[in-house]
Amino acid sequence: MATKEVSLIAASCRNNGIGFKGTLPWRLKREMAYFTKVTSEVRDDSKRNAVIMGRKTWQAIPSKYRPLANRINVVLSKTITQKPDGCDFLFADLQQALNSMLENEHVENIFIIGGEQIYREAIANDLCRNIFLTRIDADYECDAFFPQFDENIYKQTQNTFVSADTDEENGVKYKLCLYARK
Ligand SMILES: NC(=O)c1ccc[n+]([C@@H]2O[C@H](COP(=O)([O-])OP(=O)(O)OC[C@H]3O[C@@H](n4cnc5c(N)ncnc54)[C@H](OP(=O)(O)O)[C@@H]3O)[C@@H](O)[C@H]2O)c1
Repeated sequence: MATKEVSLIAASCRNNGIGFKGTLPWRLKREMAYFTKVTSEVRDDSKRNAVIMGRKTWQAIPSKYRPLANRINVVLSKTITQKPDGCDFLFADLQQALNSMLENEHVENIFIIGGEQIYREAIANDLCRNIFLTRIDADYECDAFFPQFDENIYKQTQNTFVSADTDEENGVKYKLCLYARK
């Protein structure tokens, strides 16, 4: 990524499920490490990436991992007015959050990290250039889902962030897909 880019990153199972009862339906350690690598890696060590998330996703992160280390944590909420402990920025509007992070000289790239409500809004936003989507080849009970998207607008492309784009953990196979806006 040559200039500051906005990307979505998510993992979904066979029915496009991403969450259940406010948490992740699966436990895949290497997939989580991949999320950490993609969202944390910077070319310029004086900068960090911003991760933008809905209030429920923030609350879903276990407190010992919150805020997400080495990243600028941005929470979206229309109801809370006090910045949650540990987060860097609170916004009541996705576009405001994006504009602010695009203008912030300390930010290298921007990742929208969920959940469903935020993905739905972000995927339709022209600023969003890439979708990092881990497709998990298994069924889980879910109550939050990744939105359908037009693969003519977001075209699948080679994922150069990984040496192999398939993996398997605990008998669960998954593919680390990358889609880029045409
Ligand atoms: N598999 C994955 O990759 C992945 C990634 C992330 C999350 N998840 C899962 O997804 C689930 C959470 O998703 P969710 O859709 O229920 O919640 P969410 O998108 O994380 O958070 C929703 C909340 O964000 C705020 N919000 C939403 N749109 C906003 C906007 N445009 N401007 C300002 N604030 C806005 C509202 O907060 P207020 O109510 O405070 O106004 C809303 O209630 C959990 O199960 C989580 O584990 C999965």
